[in-house]
Amino acid sequence: MIRLNDLKISYRIANRTIDAVDGVSLTIPDGCIVGIAGESGSGKSTLMKAIYGDIQAPMHISRGSIDYDFQGADGRPVTTQTIRRQWFKSISYIPQSSMNSLNPVIRIGRQFTDFPGTDSNKKRVLEQARTYLGKLGLPPEVMESYPHQLSGGMRQRVMIGLATFFQPDLIIADEPTTALDVVVQKEILMLLMELQEEMGNTILVVSHDMGVHYQVTHKMLIMYAGRVVEYGDTESVFGDPQHPYTKMLIDSLPTIGDDSMRGVIASAAGAGGDRAFRAEPVLVEVKPNHFVARAPQPDNVLA
Ligand SMILES: Nc1ncnc2c1ncn2[C@@H]1O[C@H](COP(=O)(O)OP(=O)(O)OP(=O)(O)O)[C@@H](O)[C@H]1O
Ligand SMILES: [Mg+2]
Repeated sequence: MIRLNDLKISYRIANRTIDAVDGVSLTIPDGCIVGIAGESGSGKSTLMKAIYGDIQAPMHISRGSIDYDFQGADGRPVTTQTIRRQWFKSISYIPQSSMNSLNPVIRIGRQFTDFPGTDSNKKRVLEQARTYLGKLGLPPEVMESYPHQLSGGMRQRVMIGLATFFQPDLIIADEPTTALDVVVQKEILMLLMELQEEMGNTILVVSHDMGVHYQVTHKMLIMYAGRVVEYGDTESVFGDPQHPYTKMLIDSLPTIGDDSMRGVIASAAGAGGDRAFRAEPVLVEVKPNHFVARAPQPDNVLA
């Protein structure tokens, strides 16, 4: 379980401070896939980085805290201060544009053994990695390849392989499929879903594609302007959306691919949705496991 307690995350640049995440409180239970959606710049990646514990200047936690209710591979409790030691082993991150984040000068096989603790059993780890990548639909030669020799979809599979190989308790996937074509996107997300079913771990997946969210996730978290406007069981959120912004996202289905969705979202916000969508940081449980921010009423006096 992960608990966010009135979390505020800011970037301090020169003499300006941007509050990218502004007062988020919620609980993420174990063993579920949580989808995160929201307009560009709403703080999704910032929140994911914070949960992963990758907090580097100019980003900082300016208020609140994150509680991790699980132990690391070393048996110790995980905290924001100690979480780095658990990277890849208990908690892994598939970043936005991850297909380009494999080390270009290291062969795929070695990317699986370049961790502390694998020195003594490198050979065995390599064999396990070869088998594992095979299971993910990659041919054995991939182990000897350099990243640039693989297609984008294959690199993405390798990244997912790396992120899941040690069976971490928590996997964060930030738009893991954005740069891929639609068919490969679906394949990759289905793969992630199958792996989660096997491992029973928690996956947080950011995507602009509400169709994918509906298919893949157990819970949905909708963000707008640094705040959570709605959070609940996927069926409930899609079946009975409460917040105007969530309604708009769902109304714009069916939409294929991320870019078209971005366009829809950008134009809706630009057309005066902004005031109606902004939300107070207080989430109210309107139904069991379905929370919505108390949003101010749309200002439609002149309409
Ligand atoms: N390194 C940084 N320095 C300064 N400001 C940043 C930095 N990274 C993000 N921000 C700002 O924080 C806010 C939230 O950005 P974030 O990347 O978390 O949004 P996002 O929801 O992931 O957007 P997208 O859908 O485009 O990936 C934005 O206003 C952004 O400009
Ligand atoms: Mg992002």
